[in-house]
Amino acid sequence: MHTRAYRDTLGTFATGIAIVTAVHPTDGPVGLTANSFSAVSLTPPLVLFCAARTSTTWPAIRATGRFCVNILAEHQEELSRQFTGRSDDRFRGIGWRPSGSGAPILPGVASWMDCRIETLHEAGDHTIVIGRIDEHAVEDEQVTPLLYYRSRYARLGAG
Ligand SMILES: Cc1cc2nc3c(=O)[nH]c(=O)nc-3n(C[C@H](O)[C@H](O)[C@H](O)COP(=O)(O)O)c2cc1C
Repeated sequence: MHTRAYRDTLGTFATGIAIVTAVHPTDGPVGLTANSFSAVSLTPPLVLFCAARTSTTWPAIRATGRFCVNILAEHQEELSRQFTGRSDDRFRGIGWRPSGSGAPILPGVASWMDCRIETLHEAGDHTIVIGRIDEHAVEDEQVTPLLYYRSRYARLGAG
């Protein structure tokens, strides 16, 4: 099913873009761009993202038992690209600040959610990672989101 047609079909579902971060005790700050983020439950507050089995960053995040979801604003396409590029260089030039648990909150994001890993479900070539939110905030009430649609970055209302 890993065909171009399958990707094209999935791509018709527009998503936001998140960067999932953590601080590993020896590797330091780690993170990856993810568009698989979804809200799961209001009570208790649960969210999820799907981590590829091939991801080299996911094991480092998993080892911390926590992750912070940073929801990107429309001007942050470059930041999104930075967190899909070379994994040893993703935090270059970024003045992040720690959440209450120490996880990186990236500058200029729309909002963030600091989570502890609640449950993991193996699903095909991904792991569904469910997190319970300990702390969260909207950083900018006026901001519009960065979107991903049909394998391209997009913005609200852009034709
Ligand atoms: C738009 C976009 C969305 C992505 N979403 C995910 C995702 O939901 N889960 C995931 O594991 N990787 C996702 N990736 C790939 C990761 O950002 C990253 O490139 C990949 O995990 C390889 O890096 P790593 O080895 O450091 O994990 C996405 C990439 C792009 C460009």
